Amino acid sequence: MEIIINNLKKNFLQGDKSSEKKLVVLDGINVTFEQNKSYAIIGASGTGKSTFLHLLAGLDAPDSGDIFFSSSDKTGLQDLSKLSSEQKDAFLNKTVGLMFQLPYLISELTVIENVILPGLIAGKPDSECKTRALELLGYLEIAEKANCLPDTLSGGQQQRVALARAIFNEPKFLLADEPTGNLDPKTGKLIVDLLLKCRQKWGMGLIISSHDPYVAQCMEVKFRLENGLLREV
Ligand SMILES: Nc1ncnc2c1ncn2[C@@H]1O[C@H](COP(=O)(O)OP(=O)(O)OP(=O)(O)O)[C@@H](O)[C@H]1O
Ligand SMILES: [Mg+2]
Repeated sequence: MEIIINNLKKNFLQGDKSSEKKLVVLDGINVTFEQNKSYAIIGASGTGKSTFLHLLAGLDAPDSGDIFFSSSDKTGLQDLSKLSSEQKDAFLNKTVGLMFQLPYLISELTVIENVILPGLIAGKPDSECKTRALELLGYLEIAEKANCLPDTLSGGQQQRVALARAIFNEPKFLLADEPTGNLDPKTGKLIVDLLLKCRQKWGMGLIISSHDPYVAQCMEVKFRLENGLLREV
């Protein structure tokens, strides 16, 4: 699969009504992401990395431009903007996995209950979901925490649970917005190494925004987001 982005633009209005100003964040981005590659998106704070990933993840809508998901033979081009909200949610739930700087686990649910959520949303049977979750937790070496509540885990362990949840439905792409931003360097490196290991095993494209030089160094293609545009570096 590929994500094909054409002339993507996003502005925000800033300030109060009397002195509202248009802030141009994404100014016509053209790029294609391939599933068999890993990408780093670097750039100074406030340049729009999170905004860009949120658009790819369907968490926000662009002002103009297109986001297409295509199969590698270019048949079945899926235009995100043409889907209803329910269709978009269902499509993205199986196509794109998401990670953020914070794990955003549901504190009332156990680790395994958090991990299986994307599977339950996709309508998979409970027992199949549990088997898959234990496989993932085992692979990420935290199976012994399956029945614990997230608050009893360290930050790095919680991020591993978030990773298991993100890849639960075997997405075609994993989008991660500063996934190591809240971790010490050693734990951050462990998470990056696990992301790459999962990519090897399940064959998903990685698109990761980061300030961390180790993250950028580990990705095959590096883009800098600057002045609203992506430039390969
Ligand atoms: N909902 C919003 N309303 C108004 N302005 C916003 C909104 N979301 C983001 N912005 C602005 O858009 C710009 C880009 O923000 P964004 O969070 O995408 O940057 P970033 O590159 O992810 O930064 P960081 O590296 O600090 O995470 C910033 O100037 C921010 O203030
Ligand atoms: Mg950000």
